[in-house]
This record gives sequence, structure tokens and C-alpha cells, in this order.
Amino acid sequence: MTFVGTGYLGATYAVCFAELGYEVLGVDVDVARIAALSAGAVPFHEPGLDEMLRRNLAAGRLRFTTSYRETADFGDVHFICVGTPQRPGGTGADLSYVEAAVTGLARHLTRRVLIVGKSTVPVGTAEWIEQLVAKHTDPELGIEVAWSPEFLQEGFAVEDVLRPNRIVAGLRSEWADDMLHAAHLGILELAAAEGREVPVVVTDFATAELVKVAANAFLATKISFINAMAEVCEVAGGDVTQLARAIGYDPRIGNRFLQAGVGFGGGCLPKDIRAFQARAQELGAGEALRFLHEVDLINQRRRSKVLQLAAELLGCPPGPAGPRFGDARIAVLGATFKPRSDDVRDSPALAIAAALARSGADVHVYDPEGMANAVLVQPDLNFAESLDDAVRDAELVCVLTEWPQFRTADPVRLGRLAATRLVIDGRNCLDAAAWSAAGWQYRGLGGRAATPAPPGRTAGNRAAPDHDSPAGRPAIPRPATRSVAAR
Ligand code: UGA
Repeated sequence: MTFVGTGYLGATYAVCFAELGYEVLGVDVDVARIAALSAGAVPFHEPGLDEMLRRNLAAGRLRFTTSYRETADFGDVHFICVGTPQRPGGTGADLSYVEAAVTGLARHLTRRVLIVGKSTVPVGTAEWIEQLVAKHTDPELGIEVAWSPEFLQEGFAVEDVLRPNRIVAGLRSEWADDMLHAAHLGILELAAAEGREVPVVVTDFATAELVKVAANAFLATKISFINAMAEVCEVAGGDVTQLARAIGYDPRIGNRFLQAGVGFGGGCLPKDIRAFQARAQELGAGEALRFLHEVDLINQRRRSKVLQLAAELLGCPPGPAGPRFGDARIAVLGATFKPRSDDVRDSPALAIAAALARSGADVHVYDPEGMANAVLVQPDLNFAESLDDAVRDAELVCVLTEWPQFRTADPVRLGRLAATRLVIDGRNCLDAAAWSAAGWQYRGLGGRAATPAPPGRTAGNRAAPDHDSPAGRPAIPRPATRSVAAR
């Protein structure tokens, strides 16, 4: 099989499918990227992928090329994994990479193969690809198209590819079904060996394409829902972390993706909800997705909230165009859009750092993995060598990405480095009580309090759980015996 496009998605899939035992060719027009991958270097940070790449290169199951001719000769199943970024100056998806990849490949095809779309696309793209393929290949070959979206999360991508929680297949024929089944046999066999089952949803093109954007729209909505509750908590005197815990115990709601903070970023959720709205509008169903505009606005407002909190804590004047920070030295901890990734695309942390700097603050950013990418995007910010260097002499510390290194940092030690002990916990990830005890004035988002919960109640101020950690049990104090008055 081949994976066309060796960005985050294609490279991860190529390596993992080689690991499953398939003969794999990764394809890209980016010569430097192909050279790096061929030399065993993953051009982004993804835990576990480097070693797996080198192992499969050495085993001879995995190769990389820039040649579409070689790709066409090699593959029986071709996965299209190129990017679909937001269109410059618009909100829809830019399909030019998809078009280039499909035509580049199709022109060289000489036998019956299956072309499988994996990129996140507007509904209707699979049909359009069929037309492109028909235009550039001999109809006698009987080349077919299928759609199988991916759901991998950066930082957990290897696991998500090898052990997906579902496989979705948009198909037109039994032949395509057989080919796609063969291409996923490695995953299904691994699951069977581990006593698991992977649900397979076989459907039409439109549904398969929509599954992906619907899933991301739901996740974005869940995050913005809890961030909207954070806004209400802030004015009503509630604590959103406790609220999230309490509603999350209801299995119909669930506690995952209910972490209030500076909101969602990255290369997927923000652009996908915009592209989804743009496509729905084109199809005449714009009204159905109007709420996604609100989801986006709530998300953006969380970034402004950090500036507002910073101004409050530092006693800065509001000013007509927002607060002015008058050279106040601010440490921003975090540049990536989430931990376990070096991706800074649409990162709330980096956007807030840049906004603080634009408002006059002397901002010093530190991130364990994202520095190289952050420097490229925001070259004018100051980048610290270490967590300590960022915090040293800071008048305010903002924790904006919940890296374990920040969550577990010792507030007593950091307190000695900082000029003033003011901290904004933009991810509600710190042990608020410990930071307060170390003399910090602590501010979480969504009214998260630093004072301990009243005795006899469940603790509400311990560090928030991982997004992925299962909920703990609610500790409801129960009397040993309970008497019920007879009615
Ligand atoms: C997302 C989806 O989760 C994947 O299923 C999907 O395959 C992928 O997009 C994609 O379209 O390719 P990813 O972009 O890696 O994956 O990031 P997420 O883990 O979804 O996090 C997105 C953002 O939401 C991050 O900035 C994160 O900090 C934020 N977030 C997440 C919250 O603010 N609160 C939460 O409770 C959870």
C-alpha cells in the first residue's frame, strides 16, 4: 500500500502499517521530508514513532519516494493523506493538495487499484475524486475510490492507528470492500489477538466524509460548552472544574473533553469547524451548523480572558484597544496547542503570548517540545532556555499548555525565582492549594478557587485529571446504616 502525503497523518500511517507487516511506500513532493524519513528521522514530535520508523526501514518493509510513477507501480491500495488547510482569505477547505495528489498518481496508474481518501474533506469530495480519476485513467482499468477517515490524536497517534476505536469505510462495491478489508486485516488481527473487537461501519461516501467532521465538531462543541460554563462560573462565583467533574460523572455526558481552559487549537478542530460551516452553507444547510460559529467565538474569547486576568492581576490600565502591560515581564509556559506534541498551529498558548507582547509585555516563552516551531511562527517573542529561565524575574507566570513538567513544577522553588508570585493557570492543571500555600496569588479559568473545599466534601482543588484519565469515584460520605422512616 502507499500513503500519499507524509505529513503528520500520512507518515504515522505509513510507519504503523509497515509495523503491522504490510509493504509500504510513503510519497511526498517535499524532497527534504522524504530524505529525512528515508534516513530514519520523523520531522515532527510523536512519541514512539521514531523508533518504529527505523525498525521498519531496517526490515525493508517501508520506503519513501517523491515519484508518482514508482508509487503507481508499487501500490494496490493508495491512501490519500495530504493536508486540507483553511483556504487563504476564506473559511472553506483548500483542496488543491488533494487534487494534485490524485491527478499526480492517476496519470501513472496502469492496473486496477483502490484509491482511499483519508484527508479531512468537505462532503462531496470522494465523488469529485472519482471524476478526477475517470478523467486521468483508462476506464477499462476499473479503478475505484473509497473513503476511510482517520481519528488519530497527536501525541497518541501510534496507538490510535494500531488500535483504532472504529474503522469507517465509505464504499461503492464489494471489490472495494474486499480490498479495504485486506488493507485493515493487520489491525483486525491485532485486535483479535488482544481479545478486542474493532467496530467497522460500512457506509456511503457522504456519510463517511461527514463522520470525520461531525466527530471533530462534537469535540469542539464539548470543549466550548464547558468553556461557556466557565464564563458563567466567573460571574456567578462558581468553580467550573468542580462543575465539570460533577456533570462528567453522568455517563451520558462523560468526563472527557470537558477540561475548561484557554480552549482548543491545533491543525484540526479550529479549521474543521469552519470548513464544515462553509460546506453546509454551500449545500443550503448553513442554519444547521450556525451554532459552530458560537463554538468558535467562545473559544476565541477564552484567549482574551487571559489578557483581561493578566491586566487585573498586574493592575494595568484597560486602555481603548485593550490593556497595556508597560514592559511587565511575563513568563508564558507552553507554546504547543497541547502536550505530547510540537505542533503550534493555531495554538492558544502562542496566540496569547503574542497578544501579551503586542500589548507591551516583555514575554518569555518556554515549551519542552515546541520551541523550534514557535520561533518560526512568532520570531519576535523571547524564548527562554528552560522553565526556570522563563520564570526568573517574572512579574506574572501564565501556564497555557498542561505539560507534565509544568503541572508538577515545585511552586516553592519557582516562587524564589519569580519577581512576583502571580500565576494564571490557563489549563486549570496546577495544584491550586499547593501554589497558594507557596505564596502565589493563583487564578484559574472559570472561577477555579485556590481555597480548599469545605471539610467533609469531596476535594475540589486538587490538580485536574488528565484529559484521558478515567474519572475517579465520587466520594460520597455514607453513614454506616441508614434508616428510612416508614411512609
Ligand atoms: C483532533 C481529534 O481529537 C482527533 O480525533 C482527530 O483525528 C484530529 O483532531 C484530526 O482531525 O486529525 P488533535 O488535533 O490531535 O485531534 O487534538 P485534540 O486532542 O482533539 O485536542 C484539540 C485541542 O482541544 C487542544 O488544544 C486541547 O488542549 C483542547 N482541549 C481538549 C481542551 O481545551 N479541553 C479538553 O477537554 C480537551
